[in-house]
Amino acid sequence: MKQNSKIYVAGRNGLVGSAILRRLEKGGFTNVVSSDIDDFDLTDPRATDEFFSAEKPEHVFLAAARVGGIVDNDTFPADFIRINLQIQTNIIDASHRHQVDRLLFLGSSCIYPRLAPQPLREEYLLTGPLEQTNDAYSIAKIAGIIMCQSYNRQHGTRFTSAMPTNLYGPGDNFDLATSHVMPAMIRRLHEAKLAGAPVVTMWGTGEPKREFLYVDDLADALIFLIDNFKPTRELSFLNVGTGSDLTVRELAEKIRSIVGYTGKIEWDTSKPDGTPQKLLDVTRLSALGWKAEHSLTAGIEKTYNWYRDQSPGIGGQGRP
Ligand SMILES: NC(=O)c1ccc[n+]([C@@H]2O[C@H](COP(=O)([O-])OP(=O)(O)OC[C@H]3O[C@@H](n4cnc5c(N)ncnc54)[C@H](OP(=O)(O)O)[C@@H]3O)[C@@H](O)[C@H]2O)c1
Repeated sequence: MKQNSKIYVAGRNGLVGSAILRRLEKGGFTNVVSSDIDDFDLTDPRATDEFFSAEKPEHVFLAAARVGGIVDNDTFPADFIRINLQIQTNIIDASHRHQVDRLLFLGSSCIYPRLAPQPLREEYLLTGPLEQTNDAYSIAKIAGIIMCQSYNRQHGTRFTSAMPTNLYGPGDNFDLATSHVMPAMIRRLHEAKLAGAPVVTMWGTGEPKREFLYVDDLADALIFLIDNFKPTRELSFLNVGTGSDLTVRELAEKIRSIVGYTGKIEWDTSKPDGTPQKLLDVTRLSALGWKAEHSLTAGIEKTYNWYRDQSPGIGGQGRP
């Protein structure tokens, strides 16, 4: 991408979309357009096409999606598959018809089979059954990968996909009903500190292992990929992660020391643990020359500072 290339970021206010916009600004890209649902609905093919006709982007980051936690996915599977298929189809097809040079589609590590060996390598795609609680979402993401690959084969486009691990950072969702593990822990420990609570209860045994990537590092990787990764029929997407994980218990202890909570952490083992480990193999991305800049501690510190500035009291949602 050149500094004056017309770049479109779909999903401006999202965790990922807002990080891509920060990274593009930092990198001196001056011709950037973005949209969110308040501008127009990307499930509407006509509105999407009108936007591409008017803006004529050269490069596209597809970070708009219906995203949610496990309960949300399990409760609204029809919404997850319909909305994601519609958004992807509309943007990918409009990108082809309006001669977009490069497109980057955001997938997720849930594309991999539930019982795939760890760490998860790109070639494990479509080798076994998916986790049932979010299979509608996963199938939509797999369709996006195959759609990009198919347009490349049939139309000679250069559409790529990235599969990030668990993300966190400024702009994350801290609503305890729908948030992921990292923001939920930050909020619980912060509020316990403010309230002087002697004990905080976390879900599960704390034993599962998870990998986390700071969202600004993801944005950096996406720009790196759009420039440096040439998708082929054999390999049209890459994993994006740090390559290392830790137990949820270790994560809680790390957040506790950053937040400065001095009480006790208890584990409610009646609550589900989820899959024992989820770690991406990032050998291919590393071989291209990219690695994450933020340590987990540095990333959590930045995220916590952001959250504290947004929601200094008890009960804040964390999103401005
Ligand atoms: N968060 C993670 O840990 C994670 C991990 C791996 C992969 N990813 C992938 O990264 C991508 C972005 O995720 P995220 O975490 O940034 O999600 P997010 O914070 O929920 O952002 C999604 C964005 O899409 C917009 N959007 C949703 N439906 C739309 C529609 N019909 N028309 C126009 N815009 C619409 C949302 O607008 P509103 O804000 O107005 O609803 C929001 O700006 C997704 O493809 C996701 O699968 C995320």
